[in-house]
Amino acid sequence: MNPYAAPEAELPAPPAPPAASATGALHVMIALSLLVVSWSLAVGLSSILLGALGFVGAVVVAVLGLIKSTGALGASAFLGLRLGVKGTCLALFGLVGNGLLLLRGAGLTLLATFGFSRGRQLRRFGRVMLPRLEQDGRWTAVRLSPEISAPERAGVAAQWRENGRTEHASVAAFARLTLDLMGLGAPPALIAASNRDALDEIRHTELCYSLARSLDGQAVSPAAFPEAARAKTLPKNRTLALATLAVDSLVDGALHEGVSARVIAKLAKRCEDPAIRAVLKEIAADEGRHAAHGWDVVEWCLAEGGAPVASALEGALRTLPGEVHGDLPRDAEDGSWERFGIHGRALEAAELAKTRADLVARVRAMIQGTRAAA
Ligand SMILES: [Fe+2]
Ligand SMILES: [Fe+2]
Repeated sequence: MNPYAAPEAELPAPPAPPAASATGALHVMIALSLLVVSWSLAVGLSSILLGALGFVGAVVVAVLGLIKSTGALGASAFLGLRLGVKGTCLALFGLVGNGLLLLRGAGLTLLATFGFSRGRQLRRFGRVMLPRLEQDGRWTAVRLSPEISAPERAGVAAQWRENGRTEHASVAAFARLTLDLMGLGAPPALIAASNRDALDEIRHTELCYSLARSLDGQAVSPAAFPEAARAKTLPKNRTLALATLAVDSLVDGALHEGVSARVIAKLAKRCEDPAIRAVLKEIAADEGRHAAHGWDVVEWCLAEGGAPVASALEGALRTLPGEVHGDLPRDAEDGSWERFGIHGRALEAAELAKTRADLVARVRAMIQGTRAAA
C-alpha cells in the first residue's frame, strides 16, 4: 500500500431499486381497495362468500406487500443499499400498512364466513344455488320401504326432498372442483377423487328423492339446473386461486362435509327404521371420505402456494362459524325426528363444535409445518 497515495474517495452506497420500496406501499393501496370493495359486496349485496373471498384476497396481497417492504428495509440495513428518505418512508408505510391490513382482513373474514350450510355447495356471487323441483320420477328409482306412522310422513318426506336439493347441487360443486383442480395442474389422485365424489352425490340425490317418494307417494325430482353452468370460478392469479381453493375446501369440504358425516353417522344409530338407517349409513361413509378429500385439496394448495396460502388459511381459521344457521322444520328442531333420520339443532351444534375444534388444531399444525420448512 502506498502511504503517499491520495486517499480513495469513499464510494457511496449503491441506490436500491426505487420499485423495491414502492411495491410494498402499492400493496397497501391494493389491499385497502380490496377490503373496501369486499365490505361493500358483503354488506350491500348480502353476499357473504364473495365478501369473504375479497377479504382473503386482501390478506394475500398484504402478505406479499409485507414481504416486499421487509426485503427493501433489510437490503437497506444489511446490504447498504440506499433507499433515501422517500424510499425508507414508503418501505415503512408498506411494512406497517400491510401488517395492519393482514389483521383487518382476517378479522373481516370472520364476519363474512359467519354462515353455515351442509356439504359442498355451489355458489354464484356468494349465493348458494339449489335446483327447483318438478313433478317427475327420474330421480326416484331406488326401491325403499320405510315404515313411518301417518302424522309425520308428509313432513319427513318434504325434509328428505330438501336434503336432496343440496345433494343434487353438490354434484355440480364437485364438477366445478374438478375443473378448478385441472386448471391449477393438480395431480390425478385429487381429480379422480373429485369425480368419484360427484358420483356419490348423484347416488345420494337418488336416495333422498326415492325415500321421499316412498313416504308420500309423490314422484318429484330436481328440475333442469342451468345455474350449475354459471358457478363461480377461481381468480386468474395462481396464488390467489390456490388461496381461494384452500379456504373453500377447508370450509365446504373439511368442515361442512366433516360435520355432515358425523351428524349422519349419529342419526344412523338413532334411527328406528331399518330402510332409512341403511340410507344414512351409506351417506355417512361417503361424506366422511369427501371430508378427507377436502383435506387433501387444502394440503396440496398449501404445498403449492406456500406462505400466502398459509396466511389465507390462518385468516379463515379465525372466522369459522361457531354456530349453525341451517333451515330445519320447526317440528324437527328438538330432535324428535332423529328417529326418521332428520337431525335436530342440538346434534348439529354438538358435531359442529367437535369438528371445528379438530380442524383448528390440524390447520395450525399444517401452517407451522409450512413455516418451519420455509
Ligand atoms: Fe352427499
Ligand atoms: Fe358430500
